[in-house]
Amino acid sequence: MSGEKVLGIETSCDETSVAVVAGGEEILANIISSQIKTHKRYGGVVPEIASRKHVENIAVVVEQALTEAALSWEDINAVAVTQGPGLVGALLVGVSTAKAIAYSLKKPLLGIHHLMGHIYAVFLENKGIKLPLLCLVVSGGHTSLLVLEGYGRMRLLGQTRDDAAGEAFDKVARALGLSYPGGPEIERIAREGNAGAIQFPRAWLEGGSLDFSFSGLKSAVLNYINRAGQKGEEVIQEDVAASFQQAVIDVLVGKAFAALKDTGLNQLAVVGGVAANGSLTSALRKRAVVEGAEIFNPSPILCTDNGAMIACAGYHALKGGQDAGLDLNAVPNLPL
Ligand code: KG4
Ligand code: ZN
Repeated sequence: MSGEKVLGIETSCDETSVAVVAGGEEILANIISSQIKTHKRYGGVVPEIASRKHVENIAVVVEQALTEAALSWEDINAVAVTQGPGLVGALLVGVSTAKAIAYSLKKPLLGIHHLMGHIYAVFLENKGIKLPLLCLVVSGGHTSLLVLEGYGRMRLLGQTRDDAAGEAFDKVARALGLSYPGGPEIERIAREGNAGAIQFPRAWLEGGSLDFSFSGLKSAVLNYINRAGQKGEEVIQEDVAASFQQAVIDVLVGKAFAALKDTGLNQLAVVGGVAANGSLTSALRKRAVVEGAEIFNPSPILCTDNGAMIACAGYHALKGGQDAGLDLNAVPNLPL
């Protein structure tokens, strides 16, 4: 075990997660207390319930992380926390906890952008990644292509103009009567379906744009389901899921490789909750073989929200000389 040990706290949505990461790459503990079961019955995350659950869980999860890492408080060199974007009440629980710990330990406090966390998750398990690095960030709230040039330095190439990819997965899943979160459910039933059964639209947008749009696709799927219902026709859920998923994958893969070509880079990191989708990562790898590119993605547990990614980003923020100070506040719509 070497390098500074950073405690990472993530409470932006429905996971209360605390981790300890040494030297920006060695995960000593990564405790994730998911609230999914609580929110499932409402079909999505209820912000008020999320913050209350974070309040109930955070102290226990912090204790568990220290115990699992076999460390005492004095061993922690810095505290990193998701500052935003996210649900304000949920973020505030993490931010207040991190401030209290940093204050009592007299250690640096680092405010981390949630997307920087998702991006840095890729450095936890992969060696040999060079900067600048092309990143495809696909989560429930974001879909972006950007070039990471250094910690906190990035060039945005394109982003979604409407729904995020994960949001589209969740909404289509809901229309199919599948439970929340929809991404893993769609992936599961799509394995039994025919991806070529229904021709759903792919939004390539004008003149080589690297922006995304998933709302047209989502509407096309909802219309398909409604129309079949009105006509009394059977909806083969597996085929709808597989055809929808394929439409998302085609666009993500097409635009990611267009971005590699435009930038002249040959390494691509795919991160965020949707990067847990095995059909997406295998489609990217298949194309990478043809194009001579390299694909990096975190393992599924590090794709969805977790404290380790925040601790890893925090380590790099610390190396960059950041120290937020105790006036750090949660910013629900924090820009990149
Ligand atoms: O990164 P994340 O945990 O939270 C945000 O920052 O938004 O991403 C959650 C999103 C949800 O929309 C979820 O349905 C999606 O990631 N997701 C998946 C898969 N696992 C999670 N989407 C497709 N396939 C999956 N296997
Ligand atoms: Zn996230």
